[in-house]
Amino acid sequence: EAGALWGGRFASGPSAELAALSKSTQFDWQLAPYDIAGSRAHARALATAGYLDDTELDAMIAALDRLESDVADGRFVAAESDEDVHSALERGLIGIAGVELGGKLRAGRSRNDQIATLVRLYLRDHATVIARHVVDLVDAIAAQATAHPRAVMPGRTHLQHAQPVLVAHHLLAHAWPLVRDLERLRDWSHRASASPYGAGALAGSSLGLDPVQVATDLGFDRTTENSIDATASRDVVAEFAFVAASIGIDLSRLSEEIILWSTREFGFVRLHDAFSTGSSIMPQKKNPDIAELARGKSGRLIGNLTGLLATLKGLPLAYNRDLQEDKEPVFDSVTQLEVLLPAFTGLVATLQFDEKRMAELAPQGFSLATDVAEWLVRQGVTFRDAHEISGELVRFCEQNGLELDEPTDEQYAAVSPHLTPDIRPVLTVEGSIASRDGAGGTAPERVAEQLAALTERTAGL
Ligand code: ARG
Repeated sequence: EAGALWGGRFASGPSAELAALSKSTQFDWQLAPYDIAGSRAHARALATAGYLDDTELDAMIAALDRLESDVADGRFVAAESDEDVHSALERGLIGIAGVELGGKLRAGRSRNDQIATLVRLYLRDHATVIARHVVDLVDAIAAQATAHPRAVMPGRTHLQHAQPVLVAHHLLAHAWPLVRDLERLRDWSHRASASPYGAGALAGSSLGLDPVQVATDLGFDRTTENSIDATASRDVVAEFAFVAASIGIDLSRLSEEIILWSTREFGFVRLHDAFSTGSSIMPQKKNPDIAELARGKSGRLIGNLTGLLATLKGLPLAYNRDLQEDKEPVFDSVTQLEVLLPAFTGLVATLQFDEKRMAELAPQGFSLATDVAEWLVRQGVTFRDAHEISGELVRFCEQNGLELDEPTDEQYAAVSPHLTPDIRPVLTVEGSIASRDGAGGTAPERVAEQLAALTERTAGL
């Protein structure tokens, strides 16, 4: 059969049904530039080992360059009969260089070591793109924090008012997980910097080709240690899918808050027209679709990861065709993040916060009750008693429709003699926030330091 890489021992070509099942060019064509880069490196290794003379090497490289530009401008595309990107490109190379020269390139390599190498090259490139997008998002969050240095909001646990915090502090709490994702990508890229090329089908090559030469040529730091592991493992792919899912989850958690914040009931933010959508029937609507798509896509990213892990489980060494199923999920994770992150960053960068509304809500729900208890502790009351007294004050206020700072001096004293009028300065949102000034706390000077630390941590990523 024309173009197949393995016809020799078969009396007939593959059935149409098998060909339809087996074919992967519809998704692995994206790897074509990496396959060609691998071929150039492999050609040079063949030349070093004496299998191509200088003239042949020059002709081979020229043919591969030509093939690369033909692929880039769409003059060369996969044919219906091509099994995969590797077969298609060999067909293309032979078309340019002739079968005499083109037929020499495959010596000493297998699609098994090729594909393991190409997927790493692809992911390394896209890791850089995704990291840049995540840095942009972290910057957008930091810019919002910088723009609202004193704004306050109700901090929540269990979605109930808990303690007031700075808006900047809350926003930065969404930035740090993304910074850790960036660090995960950096750590991942170290593990992904080993080249499997030269592992052959599973056992290495007998032709004396130098895997280190190929690795260096392709921009890897080193080669894989074990040719079986090199062709059989995909944890590098799964780990990338994990980081993608983690980014998705981080986006999804911020999305959920943006969706809530933009409701009439919360009213904390307004969405920019350019980053929100309307309704086909309800003229008044302004919907947080970007946040909802982020929340939805995070499920998809998790699915890509878990599907991949399930594919890997129980596979015997070394290569099995199941491994072809690694690509579509991880390619999808890449595609989704690359389209999602810029839109999401735009959404965050253009959020308009209603500082007045948030300030109004910050002290409500008795969110200063902990401040009452901690003030009592500073007066020498045990925390156990202080908690009890503060709780009784909350109950008194709730029964009488008052906020914590509204009872008279006499009413305070009736709840507990420890509640003297000196407590009043503590019962402000600003006082509460300023007092939480330990490392990592919400006090304005700590948050300013945190912003500086964030910028510094992100600089190298
Ligand atoms: N398309 C395969 C994959 O994605 C690579 C080719 C290896 N095929 C084979 N029959 N050994 O994993």
